[in-house]
Amino acid sequence: MTGQEAEELLREGALTVEGRIPDASNAVLYCSVSHQERSAHCVYKPVEGERPLWDFPDGNLARREVAAYEVSRATGWGLVPPTVLRDGPLGEGMVQLWIEPGHHSDQDDEGDGALLALVEDEEPGPGWKAVGFAQVGPGRTALLVHADDQRLRRLAVLDAVINNGDRKGGHLLTAPQSRLYAIDHGVSFHTENKLRTLLWGWAGEELPEEAVRVLRHLERDLSGDGELAVRLAELLTAPEVDAVRARVAELLRSGRHPVPSGDWPAVPWPPI
Ligand SMILES: Nc1ncnc2c1ncn2[C@@H]1O[C@H](COP(=O)(O)OP(=O)(O)O)[C@@H](O)[C@H]1O
Ligand SMILES: [Mg+2]
Repeated sequence: MTGQEAEELLREGALTVEGRIPDASNAVLYCSVSHQERSAHCVYKPVEGERPLWDFPDGNLARREVAAYEVSRATGWGLVPPTVLRDGPLGEGMVQLWIEPGHHSDQDDEGDGALLALVEDEEPGPGWKAVGFAQVGPGRTALLVHADDQRLRRLAVLDAVINNGDRKGGHLLTAPQSRLYAIDHGVSFHTENKLRTLLWGWAGEELPEEAVRVLRHLERDLSGDGELAVRLAELLTAPEVDAVRARVAELLRSGRHPVPSGDWPAVPWPPI
């Protein structure tokens, strides 16, 4: 299925709730969706089931998730599974293609390699980037590292653009063909800098040429009647869309991966 076909299935399909994901912070429902000859599994997060947060307005986490998909789609990197906003059995919500589990980032599967690790050393080994030292027990620290992986590096750029307030390891799903998907973008797109992520390994480093090209494309797509500008305007407030433009402009101006701002906990804990 192409992204467009998946979007159509998610938008038009008949949605059947099959179960609820336990321990999620919001109501996260596992569903099947079918339309004409196609069917798939998906998650449905109804706005009704959103837990209120102190720093985000009530009732629009679902829209932020869809907006994250729209930005991801515009990058061409395909990091966020197809996600749409639609009505469902529990009212309006976000519906996202299900990525088969069993390939979570903290597992070493199919030679893909783990994406995150805690190590005893002072320095990250070859192929790893350091996030920082973490307290892992009484008087014990370990170095949190993530893989020096192109997919993660793209995701670090996407997170900087969407201002992701919660990029944890459990939100990275690896799928067949070395695909990496990122999920759970409800706390993104705040107008203030809230970037909180594990992916600080490239902080302050020059952006790869590829990322600069993609950011230039986003800049055009976000201007005036650009398609992304139009789509985001349906999902976010005008100041929030302006803030996306400002973050893209700042990334292009500095030409570097962002560094922690210092006025907000920069690394989610626990990291998984
Ligand atoms: N698209 C998806 N594909 C596969 N698993 C998913 C998907 N979306 C959510 N999940 C599973 O459901 C769990 C809860 O989803 P999450 O987005 O973290 O919800 P919450 O909004 O409550 O934080 C995730 O940790 C993951 O295991
Ligand atoms: Mg979550």
